[in-house]
Amino acid sequence: MSNISLRRIRRTSVGMLCYSALLICTLAACGDAGNKEGAKVLIKFPHVTAPGTPKGRAADRFRDLVHERLGDRVTVEVYPSGQLMNDDDSIDALAFGEVQMIAVSLSKFDRLTKKFQIFDLPFMFQDLSAVERFQESPSGDALLSAMTESGLTGVAFWHNGMKQFSGPEPMTTPDAADGLKFRIMESDVLQAQILQVGGNPQKMAYGEVYQALQTGAVDAQENTWSNIYSSKFYEVQDYITQSNHGYLGYLVLVNTKFWSSIPDDVRAELRSILVETSDWANAQAAEINQDALEKIKASGRTEVVALTPEQIKQWQDIMRPVWDQFEDSIGSDVIAAAQQVPR
Ligand code: LMR
Repeated sequence: MSNISLRRIRRTSVGMLCYSALLICTLAACGDAGNKEGAKVLIKFPHVTAPGTPKGRAADRFRDLVHERLGDRVTVEVYPSGQLMNDDDSIDALAFGEVQMIAVSLSKFDRLTKKFQIFDLPFMFQDLSAVERFQESPSGDALLSAMTESGLTGVAFWHNGMKQFSGPEPMTTPDAADGLKFRIMESDVLQAQILQVGGNPQKMAYGEVYQALQTGAVDAQENTWSNIYSSKFYEVQDYITQSNHGYLGYLVLVNTKFWSSIPDDVRAELRSILVETSDWANAQAAEINQDALEKIKASGRTEVVALTPEQIKQWQDIMRPVWDQFEDSIGSDVIAAAQQVPR
């Protein structure tokens, strides 16, 4: 039984019921839409960010292009803002065939594969172009198949942007992070990164962050400008430091059995729409984040603090041991490939 199945059974209070459901699901070829020639395909696509974010726009664009090109042969239903489920649950739901496509932060797959940890290494990528060059390299492209053993296939990478630290103090130097409680995504690398600067990392679902910051359950967090703006974190954080210390992007993922059950011509068209959507969305992600930054500054609700090159160097130096800590699980070859992608 896969990790996903075991975990799902473990965490429910009615494990036996779920186990029966799992058996039924397995017998019924879970995730198989049973799509025969001419049958209609329904793709339920939940995600956790707002419609105007890089991911929200990409998902809507995909839905619209599918409608335009495939008419009623395929319907994509997008559920934004975590209205259907959080990211963690969506991975299980995809495996169980309850939803058919997800776009989850690369930081949130630790329980299935360690390969995406490369994207969380602090100061690994200078900007989105550097990430893109790696994702398009043979090592990066191979990551799309990292979870085939769990029955999940990666079909695209989508950008959000570079992460910034926000908190009750300007974090110009790492000592300002000492003792603060940081909300982080469900990632062991991010946990190590915060421990490295003396902070107290708390893994937490995205939908809970605003309230946790507002009530003081956590003091600080790291996220992109578009997420900080659209989820209003800037209204409950006194300072945002332009640290650009890490990358936040997504893997668009399908259930392999479902995907293979789609008629070949339809699947080929879906793939080509995904390529078109990804090119369109990735080209405007940086601009969406820049626009969010301007709006946050104009709001006057928080102070945006820039870093000098010397201050950035201090952050890089203190966080660098995290690379060594995860070198074995990520693979030194992958780290080297990510560093060496040509400009
Ligand atoms: C987060 O949890 O902070 C992000 O993964 C949210 C998102 O999907 O961008």
